[in-house]
Parts: sequence; structure tokens; C-alpha cells
Amino acid sequence: MRISVIGSGYVGLITAAGFAENGHTVICVDVLQEKINAINKKKSPIYEKGLDEILKRVVGKNLTATTDLRKAVMGTDMTFLCVGTPSNGDGSVDLKYVKKASEDIGRVLKEKRGYHVVVVKSTVIPGTTEDVVIPVLERNSGRKVGRDFGVAMNPEFLREGVAIEDFMNPDRIVIGASDKKAGDFVESVYHGFSSPILRTDIKTAEMIKYASNAFLATKISFINEIGNICKKLGIDVYDVAKGIGLDHRISPHFLRAGIGFGGSCFPKDVKALVYKAREIKETPAILNSVLEVNKKQPLKILDIAKKKAGKLKGKRVAVLGLAFKAETDDMRESPAIAIVNELVRKGAKVAAYDPKATENAKAIFGDKIKYARSATEALRGSELALIVTDWIEFKNLNFKEMKKKVVVDGRKAINEDTLPNDVEYEGVCW
Ligand code: UDX
Ligand code: UDX
Repeated sequence: MRISVIGSGYVGLITAAGFAENGHTVICVDVLQEKINAINKKKSPIYEKGLDEILKRVVGKNLTATTDLRKAVMGTDMTFLCVGTPSNGDGSVDLKYVKKASEDIGRVLKEKRGYHVVVVKSTVIPGTTEDVVIPVLERNSGRKVGRDFGVAMNPEFLREGVAIEDFMNPDRIVIGASDKKAGDFVESVYHGFSSPILRTDIKTAEMIKYASNAFLATKISFINEIGNICKKLGIDVYDVAKGIGLDHRISPHFLRAGIGFGGSCFPKDVKALVYKAREIKETPAILNSVLEVNKKQPLKILDIAKKKAGKLKGKRVAVLGLAFKAETDDMRESPAIAIVNELVRKGAKVAAYDPKATENAKAIFGDKIKYARSATEALRGSELALIVTDWIEFKNLNFKEMKKKVVVDGRKAINEDTLPNDVEYEGVCW
């Protein structure tokens, strides 16, 4: 199949690289020339495990990148819409990129011969594809969905850091389509995948994405709430999580308590669902609580730090980890943002280290903090260390150059059993 992918961000680029690796001919499109140049030079503009290796194999062969959307759509049979869907301040989804890309695709479809399917992969609130994307495509193409072209919604479930693995071996593939022909067309590009394929209507596919992320976020806030209670009762919530996770109805996944969830999806998607629910006069009590727990959770690490190490003013604090989770350079909605800002506000002197996210962090914190080149450098001379991201390299850290060896772990990243006796270690929920 000849596939064009509009928007070469995290989702678009993984999707494009994955389809190319599986033998399809793919054209990536983005409005940013530097992204396109990087891809054409076989260099991923984002850090994602395994992506550079795939780009080396496919770029120039069956994957090319361009800023020319028209040419890309004209030369392909299927177009995946992967532009960003940022959050407006009030939680609603900003659809300007989705609308703009749909207009551009529609104008090309006006001239294009042959059957074409437009597949929405961007996360959009149930109803958006039918109420916004399809009308814009029809208006700009002068053609009719179902008769002249097809539309489908095929949500992504890619976790950053393991996105290639998630693309190649998904738990399920969800395809919501305007009609059977469009759905069959999309299903054909997943030929060879052994995952279950679920065919639905368009808005059900849109809702499956939101319900999945909302459920996973709920699991995290739930275990954090249990963890906060455990902490006060002197119980390790990780033992509790193991105990409940063995019940197959609960499962052991997404029960890692700590400083809460961040990233480009969970916070934004839960807020968007809350916004939509309110708009249709529903009160989403559980989802509201999920967000409330998650808002407070990052600062738990500072409450504990203050109890252990006294006031933060003037204190030299090592912050280890800035990314919203390990194996990514992504800082979007990272719990590190609230933690570092509060440390700065309280007058602490922060030296931060992250194996990948330092450049992105500089854009957020500027010169308010120092950026160390290694964990050892950040720890040197500090009186308090906060573990904010669960990077594997933090498992067996050496704290001997700290001035005062107080360590508060927000992610259970450290192997507590191997710590020397002179390190005072405390976990957020254990
Ligand atoms: C994706 C999904 O699209 C979003 O709905 C989901 O919730 C999270 O994952 P992501 O890939 O992370 O977003 O976004 P981003 O990395 O910002 O990439 C979007 C890309 O689209 C950018 O490279 C941007 O330059 C490009 N873009 C944006 C276009 O090419 N055209 C536009 O009109 C707008
Ligand atoms: C998520 C979804 O998992 C994925 O399917 C897709 O919809 C995009 O959004 P991602 O944001 O990349 O993926 O990361 P994920 O591994 O889900 O973690 C999200 C956040 O939750 C991270 O901040 C992580 O540290 C946190 N988390 C995760 C926990 O605090 N505890 C857990 O048990 C699991």
C-alpha cells in the first residue's frame, strides 16, 4: 500500500517508520522543514528506542519525507492524520491542526483519481471525525464520504520509549470506519499482524482511545491514593500492588505508585474527557478525582523531603530525572516541572540531571537551575537527592559525594537493598 502520514511528530513518525519497515511505501509530511530534513538524513528528530535503526533501513528506499502535502496525498492511496491535538487552557481539544490538515487533504482529493481513505490517528473527542473532519473533507473536495472516498479512525496506543514494540505487537488494533470498504482498506495495511482487530463505528473507536487512557490513568491515581495511605500506616504499597495484581481481574500492570502520571496523553486526554462530559451535562466524578490526585502527587516528594531534611531554602538539591518517564527525552506534563518549580520558589539550589531530557528541560527552566552532565556531578556536594524519573542507571547510584546523604525516591527507581547504611532513604508511597 502507498501511505502518506500527515504530521511527523511522535505518533506520525513511528507510524510511518513501522509501516515502511513492514514493506509499505510511505511518505511523511510535516510543516517543519528541519524535521523533514532530519528524516531524509535518516536521523530521527525525536529520541525513541530503535527508531534511528529503522530509519537507516527504510529512508531513501520506501520512506521519504516532504513538506509538500499535495504531492504526498496525490501519490498515495491512504492518508494517516497524525497532527498534534493540543489542549486548550480549559481542557478542551484544540482542533486547529486537524482542521487545517483536513482542508489541505480535501483540496487534494478534489483533483485526485481513484479510491482514497483518510485515517484519523490523532486523538480526538468522540464525534470529532464525523462532525469536523468529514464535513471539512467533503466541503473542500466536493466529494461524498462512503461514495467517493473513505474515512476511518484508527487510534494509537503507543507508549513512548517502547513505541516501536507497541506498533509492531499491539494488544489490539481498533478500526472505526465510515463504511465496510474503508474499514477493509485500513485492515489490509495491518496484514501480517497477529493482534486481534476490532472493527467499530468511528465514534466508538474515538471513545476506546479515551476510555483506555482514562482507565490507565485511574489505575495510577488509585494506587497513588492507596500508596499515600500506606505511607502513613508504614506499609510498602509495592507489596500491596503485588498482592492485588495477582488477581487476574486487576492485573499487575500500571500499579506503580509514585509522583503521578505525565506525558503527552494521560493528562490531556483525561482533561478533554472531563470537558466533554461536562459539556453534555454529565458529572465525571471519578475522572475529576483522578486529576485531583495526580495534581497533588508530585509535591508529595517535597513534603517527605522537608520532613527528612528540613527547610529547602538555600539547600543544594540534586534532582535526578526530568523526563515524564524513562527512555524518553519528553518533558510534556512531567511531574518534574511542578517539583523543580516549587524547589526554585522555595529558594533551593537545584542541580538537575537527566540522561536525555536536558535540552528540553532548558526550554522550561532556563537558568533557574543548573544542569549536570552526570548523576554523580548533580549529587556532588548536595544535601538532598530527589529521584524523579525511573531511569535504569539510577538503580545503583553512588551517593558518597553528597554532603548530606538524604535520598527521596519518587519512582521506586533505586535498589534499596544495596544502599550503604549511611544513606537515609525514603520512598513517596513506601
Ligand atoms: C500525537 C497525536 O496526534 C495526538 O492527538 C495524541 O494525543 C498524541 O500523539 P504527537 O505525535 O505527540 O501527537 O504530536 P507532535 O509530536 O506535536 O507532532 C505533531 C506534528 O505534526 C509536528 O511535527 C507538527 O509540526 C506537525 N504538524 C502540525 C503538521 O505537519 N501540520 C500541521 O498543520 C500541524
Ligand atoms: C500513554 C499510553 O500508555 C499509550 O497507550 C498511548 O495512548 C500514549 O499515552 P505514554 O504517555 O508514552 O503512553 O507513557 P506510559 O508508559 O503510559 O506512562 C504515562 C505516565 O504514567 C508516565 O509519567 C509514567 O511514569 C506514569 N506511570 C505509568 C505511573 O506513574 N505508574 C505506572 O504504573 C505506569
